[in-house]
Amino acid sequence: MATMGTNISREDVALNGLQEITRRISEMGEWFHNINLKGVFTAPHHFLGDFPSVKWKHIAPALPADLSGATVLDIGCNGGFHSIELKKRGASRVLGIDVDDRYLDQARFASQVLGLEIEFAKCSVYDVDSIPGQFDYVLFMGVFYHLRYPLFALDKVIKKVKGSLILQTMVRGSLTSPELHEDYHFWNTEVFHNPDFPCMYFIEKNYSGDPTNWWIPNHGAMEGMLRSSGLKITAHPEQETWICAPSHVTKDDGKYILDHELAGTL
Ligand SMILES: C[S@@+](CC[C@H](N)C(=O)[O-])C[C@H]1O[C@@H](n2cnc3c(N)ncnc32)[C@H](O)[C@@H]1O
Repeated sequence: MATMGTNISREDVALNGLQEITRRISEMGEWFHNINLKGVFTAPHHFLGDFPSVKWKHIAPALPADLSGATVLDIGCNGGFHSIELKKRGASRVLGIDVDDRYLDQARFASQVLGLEIEFAKCSVYDVDSIPGQFDYVLFMGVFYHLRYPLFALDKVIKKVKGSLILQTMVRGSLTSPELHEDYHFWNTEVFHNPDFPCMYFIEKNYSGDPTNWWIPNHGAMEGMLRSSGLKITAHPEQETWICAPSHVTKDDGKYILDHELAGTL
């Protein structure tokens, strides 16, 4: 058995390391992200299974395997799973933001254990404009339906996107793209009986025991909002995830849709 100076073996050191990781993981409260920290999993009993790996395996192939030199903003980064995955692909800068200190602490710990240099900061999606510059990849995953002002947030997030926006949201109701017309007569109330017609479900109390689930779009509504915010949908790797690129996010005067809306000039 290899020894390290005294009579402590390498195996002992490794075991102590694992015990320490296990202790720190449980000390940090409940994890939403199941991350493999040197063989110790942070949320092995997650109600959605091996989350978010179960979703990520469908999304990951839609993004470049080599992100050398790319910058990434991960909004609502939680325990850091996606920040870590994109850093592992060589992104030069990854910034994860969240409003929850517990999750930010978890993310910092996870990246530290894995030896990855990732920035994590407390910042709400509503304050993304306080972050300088734009990012090659902006992740906006699992946050949209937790917001009372989802479209306001989306229009803000768009200002940070230089390359691609990866948006994931819970989707309920119809999963089919509606056939939409340019306009509808005032007395055409029929369209609202079509389950495919773009629609957001408002949750006044709780959904899945969570009072922060506010607005849940159907498929048509999510795609309609993305287009209406000036994005072009470039990929739809799984039912709840869209990859988009800015296409008409500003008007002819160069001003963003959000600024026109707030100024009453849209
Ligand atoms: C369902 S989790 C999604 C985590 C991760 N992005 C994912 O896809 O697995 C929602 C996360 O959004 C964060 N969040 C909620 N409201 C936010 C806000 N206003 N600004 C930034 N993050 C927010 C929560 O703290 C939580 O970490």
